[in-house]
Amino acid sequence: MPAKQPVQIAPAEGKLGVLVPGMGAVTTTFIAGLEAIKRNLGKPIGSLTQLGTIRLGKRTEGRSPAIQDFVPLASVEDIVVGGWDIFEDDAYEAAVKAGVLEMSLLEQLKKPLSAIKPMKAVFDQQFVKRLDGPNIKASGSKMDHAEMVMDDIRQFQQRTGASRLTMIWCGSTEVFREESAVHATLKDFECGLQKSDPEVSPSQIYAYAALKLGVPYANGAPHMTTDMPALLELARNMNVPLAGKDYKSGQTFMKTLIAPGLKSRLLGLNGWFSTNILGNRDGEVLDDPGSFRSKEVSKSSALEYILQRHLYPDLYRDFYHKVRIEYYPPRGDAKEGWDNIDIFGWLGYPMQIKINFLCRDSILAAPLVLDIVLFMDLAQRAGMRGIQEWLSFYFKAPMHAPEVYPEHDIFIQLMKLKNTLRWMQGEDLITHLGQEYYD
Ligand SMILES: NC(=O)c1ccc[n+]([C@@H]2O[C@H](COP(=O)([O-])OP(=O)(O)OC[C@H]3O[C@@H](n4cnc5c(N)ncnc54)[C@H](O)[C@@H]3O)[C@@H](O)[C@H]2O)c1
Repeated sequence: MPAKQPVQIAPAEGKLGVLVPGMGAVTTTFIAGLEAIKRNLGKPIGSLTQLGTIRLGKRTEGRSPAIQDFVPLASVEDIVVGGWDIFEDDAYEAAVKAGVLEMSLLEQLKKPLSAIKPMKAVFDQQFVKRLDGPNIKASGSKMDHAEMVMDDIRQFQQRTGASRLTMIWCGSTEVFREESAVHATLKDFECGLQKSDPEVSPSQIYAYAALKLGVPYANGAPHMTTDMPALLELARNMNVPLAGKDYKSGQTFMKTLIAPGLKSRLLGLNGWFSTNILGNRDGEVLDDPGSFRSKEVSKSSALEYILQRHLYPDLYRDFYHKVRIEYYPPRGDAKEGWDNIDIFGWLGYPMQIKINFLCRDSILAAPLVLDIVLFMDLAQRAGMRGIQEWLSFYFKAPMHAPEVYPEHDIFIQLMKLKNTLRWMQGEDLITHLGQEYYD
C-alpha cells in the first residue's frame, strides 16, 4: 500500500512536441538518437528515463521497477521535434556538419531528419559574437519577436498535432550578463520587450514566448535566461515548470563525482586545474571571452558548493580552482579534458590525481536532453510550477530557491530526483537508515 496520497498526474496522452532553439550538434544528435531508437538502430545509453530503475520500499521487498513504468512518461515514439536556427540547414544537413554521428547511421535516418527544417531565429549578435547567419526573423521590436515565436509555436502544434509542448535551449552560449532593472518584474520586462531594451537576450525572448503559452522551459546553456524575477514571476503565474542551467555532461560531471568522494574521506584540496580542447561550433562560440565567461561562472561553482570551505577550513580554505576551454578545430565534437587535482591527506602529505577524459560532447548531452524534456512534461502534468530543483542532477549550475544554496553533489541530486518520483507516486521516501533489518 502506498504510504501517502500520490500526486494527481494527468496521463501522457497524444504527442509531446519538443521545441528547441538551436539545431546544432546536441540537438541533431538528440533527434537522430530518437529516430535511431524508434528503428532499433541504437539504444538510449545514458538516459535515466529509458534505462534507469527505482527501488521502492524495503530492500527485502525486491521492488525495483523501471522508472518509465513507475511514472507516466511520454514515450520516445510520441516525441515530435521542431526548432529554430540562424542557419538554414535541416536536421540532416546540420547533423552531417556537426560530424558527431557516422554517415552510415545518418543515411538511414535521412528522411525524418531532412523533414525537420529550422524556423527563423530570434538573433542578436551582441549576445553571440562569433556567429552570424541568414535564417533570422525580420526586424521588429523584441516584443514583435516574442509574438513571432508564439506564432511559430502555435503553428508547430497545429502542424504536428502535439497535445503538449516543452521547450529546451540547445542554442549557443550567450555572453555573460547580470540581472538588470529590466529583469526586476514582469511589468518591467514586458516594457523592456516593447522598447527593445538591450539587456533582453534572444534566449529570454524564446523563454518569454514559451512561458506565455504555458510551455515549460529548460536551459541547457550557462547564460542567464529565466533565473531572474520577471520570468520566474511569469512561470508562477502560468503554472509552468522551469529548469536549468548548463548540461552537466563532461568535465563538471566528473568533478561532481570526484569532489564528493574526496570530501567524504575528509581529504584536503590545494588546487584543481581543468582544461579542455574542443573543436566544434560550441568551442568556436566559447572562444569569445563574453560567452566563455558564462561557461566559466557555471563551471566554477560546483566545487565551491560541494566542498563548503566555511565548514572545512583545514581542508578547503585556500584551494585554487581554474577552468580553461581551448578552441582546437581538429578535434571537432570529440572533446579532451584534463584535470590535475592536488590533494592532501593525513598530516598534510600531498598527492595528485590526473583525469584525462576523452569524451564526445554531444553523445553525453543527448540523453540528458531526452530525460529533461520527459521530466519537464511530467512535472507539468503533475501541476508542479516554477523551479524544478529535483532536476539539478542534469545541470552544472542548478536553478534553486533564493533562500537555499544549489545542490551540486551528483549522488544527493540523484537521491533527490528519485525521492521526488517516489513522492509523486505516494511511495515511502528512501532514507537508507535500515535499522529495521537489525531489530
Ligand atoms: N555538448 C555538451 O556536452 C554541452 C554541455 C553543456 C552545455 N552545452 C551547451 O549546449 C548548447 C548547444 O551545444 P552544441 O554543441 O549543440 O552547439 P552548436 O554550436 O553545435 O549548436 C548551437 C546552435 O545554436 C544556434 N543558435 C545560436 N543562437 C541562436 C538563436 N538565438 N536562435 C536559434 N539558434 C541559435 C547556432 O547557429 C548553432 O547551430 C551550447 O550552448 C553549449 O554550451 C553543451
